[in-house]
Amino acid sequence: MHRCLLPAGAAVLFLMAAATQAQSPRDLREPGSFAGITNGQARSLALFGELAKVLMHPRCMNCHPADDTPTQGNDMHAHWPPVTRGDNGGGAPGNSCGACHTEANYTLIERASYRSIPGHPRWGTAPIEMAWQGKSVGDICRQIKDPQRNGGRSLELLHEHLAKDDLVAWGWNPGEGREPVPGTQRILGELIKAWIDSGAACP
Ligand code: HEC
Ligand code: HEC
Repeated sequence: MHRCLLPAGAAVLFLMAAATQAQSPRDLREPGSFAGITNGQARSLALFGELAKVLMHPRCMNCHPADDTPTQGNDMHAHWPPVTRGDNGGGAPGNSCGACHTEANYTLIERASYRSIPGHPRWGTAPIEMAWQGKSVGDICRQIKDPQRNGGRSLELLHEHLAKDDLVAWGWNPGEGREPVPGTQRILGELIKAWIDSGAACP
């Protein structure tokens, strides 16, 4: 659980979670379950704490590295075979992401230490200004709100990206042998919207 990383306002979340039934890390709560927090700032913080369960998941973090190399698996080890992000995130000449990562997930027929190779038409490393690895929940929160570091997006476009983007959608369909991110993309979209509407507060 990432809850332990959250300072300050997260205490509210802690108490709420303890009061309701024990929650599995696979669950993603609907924004409506935060409606009882009447203070806007506290509600916004609690909503971000919930949606951070998706953002901070290895399926997302593995492609948002702070150095030149994407990572793999839930332990986020360095990518094997060795690759670098290259000029545009799509790999180095002669060793492009697309050489191994095709348009769609590929399930292996042969035996290997992994069951499938992820695939998507836009498979590539997130730009360095969008690096998330090694950052706190609060840092990532401030970063995704900052148009200088989020690809020039307004909050509305940030919502659009998280709610609709088909590369983000891969997180719920990551291929055989890989754990999907919690909840659904619909719930993530609604959490982001409720977080924005309550003032987009960062922990
Ligand atoms: C295959 C690698 C890959 C995976 C997996 C991936 N991303 Fe990204 N992400 C990128 C790339 C490349 C960009 C830059 C493209 C753009 O801005 O549209 C990006 C940009 C973003 C942005 C906008 C910029 C920012 O940092 O604010 C958000 C938000 C984001 N990703 C969220 C996610 C979430 C949530 C997941 C997991 C469900 C995820 N990403 C999984 C590669 C990836
Ligand atoms: C030479 C082949 C090859 C190249 C080139 C390659 N990959 Fe991979 N990649 C793989 C294989 C095979 C796997 C599956 C291994 C596994 O899951 O243990 C994988 C898995 C991944 C994962 C793990 C997903 C997860 O959440 O566990 C990410 C992220 C990734 N690659 C990103 C990239 C990016 C970005 C590039 C280009 C900069 C790239 N790869 C280039 C072969 C390659």
